[in-house]
Amino acid sequence: MTTSPAAEAANSRVGIAAQAARRRTFAIISHPDAGKTTLTENLLLAGGAIRAAGQVRARGENRRTRSDWMKIERERGISVSASVMTFDHAGLMFNLLDTPGHEDFSEDTYRTLTAADAAIMVLDAAKGIEPQTLKLFEVCRLRDIPIITFINKMDREAQDPFAILDEIAGKLALDPAPLYWPAGSGGRFKGMLDFARDSFIPFAKKGGGPAGQEDGHPDALAFKSNSISSYLDPDELSELTDNAELVQGASKPFDVQSFLEGHMTPVFFGSALRHFGVDQLLEGIGAYCPPPKGVVAARSGAAAEVLPGDKEVSGFVFKVQANMDPNHRDRIAFLRLTSGEFERGMKLKVQNTGKQLSVNAPIMFFASDRELAEEAFAGDVIGIPNHGVLRVGDSLSESGSLRFAGLPNFAPEILQRVRVKDPLKAKHLKKALEGLAEEGVTQLFRPTMGADFIVGAVGQLQFEVMADRLANEYQLEVIFEASPYAEARWTCGDKADLEDFQGKHRMQMATDIDEQPVFLAKTAWETGYVSERYPKVRFERSKERA
Ligand code: G4P
Repeated sequence: MTTSPAAEAANSRVGIAAQAARRRTFAIISHPDAGKTTLTENLLLAGGAIRAAGQVRARGENRRTRSDWMKIERERGISVSASVMTFDHAGLMFNLLDTPGHEDFSEDTYRTLTAADAAIMVLDAAKGIEPQTLKLFEVCRLRDIPIITFINKMDREAQDPFAILDEIAGKLALDPAPLYWPAGSGGRFKGMLDFARDSFIPFAKKGGGPAGQEDGHPDALAFKSNSISSYLDPDELSELTDNAELVQGASKPFDVQSFLEGHMTPVFFGSALRHFGVDQLLEGIGAYCPPPKGVVAARSGAAAEVLPGDKEVSGFVFKVQANMDPNHRDRIAFLRLTSGEFERGMKLKVQNTGKQLSVNAPIMFFASDRELAEEAFAGDVIGIPNHGVLRVGDSLSESGSLRFAGLPNFAPEILQRVRVKDPLKAKHLKKALEGLAEEGVTQLFRPTMGADFIVGAVGQLQFEVMADRLANEYQLEVIFEASPYAEARWTCGDKADLEDFQGKHRMQMATDIDEQPVFLAKTAWETGYVSERYPKVRFERSKERA
């Protein structure tokens, strides 16, 4: 029997949609030291992606100090796999996206979260919600990303779990729905109750396995079984029973829909370091985190919904990393696929430039290895090596007509003047600064008058990283100096209004890397002042590339 082309096409769409539905693409957000690196590693262990502890940890430790962090940047060639880690487990493909931990990189984090379908919020059980948790949470809320909460370090003295739930509800306006409940914490941590299965999962301090291996935890047992007394004394048992009743009475039952809409967060407890509660968390990610969904894009100017099962391959670049290999000036663009069945060797077109590229060496990142990606589906992230063709925010598709929005540049919070020590190298400096700006890490403004460049960043650390990279990758010694500017705003409006404004403020006008006009204000007050005096000109805090 032969099938009609229409039926074949329909079958292939079903196949593509089914593949996309297997994807779980998520990021971990946390305040530094809450345990993101330890949890990442233990999720990879739980998912069978790595066999021994230590592979990811080493990097977490290195991140502690600034100089080490820069070294890590230089060594991107080997540590780049941290940007995304893919593993196949329990019939699902998990893509774990790494978000930079330092607050100076919030713009980068924001963009990474645009590529995630869900986030795991890790809290230190002793500290609850910390400043950086709150900041990252707000980014997730802005993007309507559903959040799973993992309360970590239960093997240490923790806050009262009821107080942590109150904090989640109060500070984040999110309904916490605990799926488990801990018995004690610190030295008295005995395990946790699994509400759905009505079973108790005992915590073991020390496993029986060989040194260096993960601690083994005894199997779960029915909560009502007699053998529970081997793990909990009568007081502990009655406390757990009472608390479990109390929390179930006081909190709303877990509702997947409410979670997907960003109103509710399922709460897990555990100890990433002791590999406790991690299997349950991974199971929860698989069960509740959403697969990739449809995205509203523009097709030739008109709104169009792109579905994961659509035949046309499409995606957007949310991150670019340059100089991963110091011998080659190539860059890797991280493309989050939004639809279709990508195959190696395929030709994709960049929407805004119309450039076509053959993706012959796409990379997928499996824990510690990189591999050539033969195929990929919506939700997957592939690395595309290129020579500056791809930039953050680019939309790629087979037709080249699709454009995805939502990857803005934010007005920098610090603006500095940059000079190269050797004046003969001024030309090189321009190229190098443009290269770094194209990666989307820092922003570059060229004042209309004068020859200096102004570099903008969200935080001071970015300047240090930048100076380090300019020295190592471009052999340029640079000096950053205070600039007279406090704020940068993209100016938009009718041509005549803009020209009028620009003509009167030539000394403070600049262009960004896309030649878009930017007003450099000396104080926040000045921004307010010009906004009032020129009501027809818009002074934008963020911009999306045209
Ligand atoms: P981060 O990526 O969020 O910054 O945190 P990271 O995983 O590096 O963990 C920060 C510290 O917290 C590390 O301790 C780590 O061992 C510890 N930690 C993480 N999860 C747990 C847990 O469940 N229980 C306990 N008790 N500790 C945990 P460190 O002393 O800074 O480093 P190390 O000397 O242990 O390597």
